[in-house]
Amino acid sequence: MSVASVYENLYRIERLAAAELSDGGGPFGFDAHTALAFDWLIERYGCDAIVETGCNHGDTTEYLARTYPHLTVLTCDVVPRYVEFVRERVGVLPNVAVDLCDSTELVRRVQGQFERPIYYLDAHWYEDWPLARELELIERGVIMIDDFDIGHPRFGYDEYKGVRCGPEILKPFAEKFPTFYVTNPNARYDLPCLQVGRRAGRAFCQVGLPRDYMRYHRWFARRDTATGASPAVAKAAAGTTPTASS
Ligand SMILES: C[S@@+](CC[C@H](N)C(=O)[O-])C[C@H]1O[C@@H](n2cnc3c(N)ncnc32)[C@H](O)[C@@H]1O
Repeated sequence: MSVASVYENLYRIERLAAAELSDGGGPFGFDAHTALAFDWLIERYGCDAIVETGCNHGDTTEYLARTYPHLTVLTCDVVPRYVEFVRERVGVLPNVAVDLCDSTELVRRVQGQFERPIYYLDAHWYEDWPLARELELIERGVIMIDDFDIGHPRFGYDEYKGVRCGPEILKPFAEKFPTFYVTNPNARYDLPCLQVGRRAGRAFCQVGLPRDYMRYHRWFARRDTATGASPAVAKAAAGTTPTASS
């Protein structure tokens, strides 16, 4: 796990979902900054499994399974042709399993199986948007939510039935994770992001883990879950003075 392994693996993966994904497909839409952040989270938290919801054609699934051969990679989709395709695609890799099921079924099943799993929540597109149910079910682990509104024009997000995938949808979870993070668009990374098309915003949080490693890392911009604001703004609104660590 390192910048070198992200670089070496990311650009070896075929972009097989190009026709269907708004970012043109590829692992994490070939957003190297997301791949670096995901890699850092796996290493820093000592993650022992990867759970992806919504595999589509498996561009990210294959990348994750090849880059982290020591980790179990579990993924799923509700569309049989995607599941059959991805099973064939990653069939030679012993560390990955692809299920035909609703993402909430997969998330429910893995609870208690791993110490520090990392979740890549990317199941969406249809009337029934499972994100809130997935978040309710997760008892412990690190979470990355795809297509999240980070409040920056360069980064896209999703919206279903007028509900934006953004800070609002996390407010009900303020007790579960009082803090979340979004991609910091101004941070410096060790690789350039070559994606010139749509980039997706991402949100990150941790549940049930003792240490918050994201708090002091430049790639993650902190947000208060109850208000959706950055801590300095939330404190000012509450009439308290922000501290240097905010
Ligand atoms: C944006 S695509 C996933 C892309 C994939 N993670 C990647 O990085 O290449 C969203 C996928 O979620 C799937 N999906 C939608 N609702 C789902 C649900 N409730 N459970 C599982 N998969 C779902 C869709 O069929 C679609 O293939």
